[in-house]
Amino acid sequence: MAAADFTPTPAPVVDIRGLWTVFGHGDQEVVIHRDLDLRVERGEMLSLVGGSGTGKTVLLRQMLGLQQPARGQVTVLGEPAARLGRHGASSRVGMLFQQGALYSAFSVLDNIAFALRELKTLPDDVVDEAAYVKLQMVGLGPQHAHKKPSDLSGGMIKRVALARALIMDPPLLLLDEPTAGLDPHASDEFCDLLRSLHAELGLTLIMVTHDLDTLFALSSRVAVLAGQKVLVSGAPAEVARFDHPFIHDFFQGERGRRAMTPVPAGAD
Ligand SMILES: Nc1ncnc2c1ncn2[C@@H]1O[C@H](COP(=O)(O)OP(=O)(O)O)[C@@H](O)[C@H]1O
Ligand SMILES: [Mg+2]
Repeated sequence: MAAADFTPTPAPVVDIRGLWTVFGHGDQEVVIHRDLDLRVERGEMLSLVGGSGTGKTVLLRQMLGLQQPARGQVTVLGEPAARLGRHGASSRVGMLFQQGALYSAFSVLDNIAFALRELKTLPDDVVDEAAYVKLQMVGLGPQHAHKKPSDLSGGMIKRVALARALIMDPPLLLLDEPTAGLDPHASDEFCDLLRSLHAELGLTLIMVTHDLDTLFALSSRVAVLAGQKVLVSGAPAEVARFDHPFIHDFFQGERGRRAMTPVPAGAD
């Protein structure tokens, strides 16, 4: 037997098997996910796409251990996701919620530091220092540290929310519609930031997005939620050719064609 045969296969960062999500009871029962499987390997940038209400946000919440499936296993970083959730804010999975969700009464620095401060294991100045490092990491100078969220632009709020999600140096980052509500310029900048953090920190990214520019800028793989499971997953251009009404509408609409058409050299 060759030595290579003894090398353990690295475990996936996320391993979802036979997942069912059911809401309501009796004739009010709605099945959101039916026997869904999804594996995400270390270092991937996976985009989850699907129609409204197909259970994309619920799936992220299940990966965080905030919501339990009716059936099936959700294993994250080698542990049942439920165990991550039990300790409140997980130190191992960062989450960028769709609404940014900063505390409006707290300064930028205190928002970023929040989870670390809550641990009550480090002195205040160490916590502040860690938060300043994260502020710089998301491309914001120290002059923003004592501002309130209401003083920030939409793009800056996303950056602060990202810094907060990264405060515990999680190897896995989940993002729900990270560029929703940003103008195209701020959106491009945020994608650039996510791409460079992915490379520098060796992160695994799983994001929900319906923005095709974001999807093409950031995905090494796309997984399509349809028919209550992962219908297809693969490279963006591959998935775009899959024959299904949702995929057709999603990728072949006007915005889709524009996002997929390479800009000719020299064109602005
Ligand atoms: N806690 C809950 N109780 C009942 N229904 C829920 C709950 N959370 C989500 N749902 C329903 O599950 C479906 C999927 O929700 P969601 O994951 O938010 O969809 P999306 O793919 O648009 O993110 C929606 O119909 C939503 O109303
Ligand atoms: Mg959603």
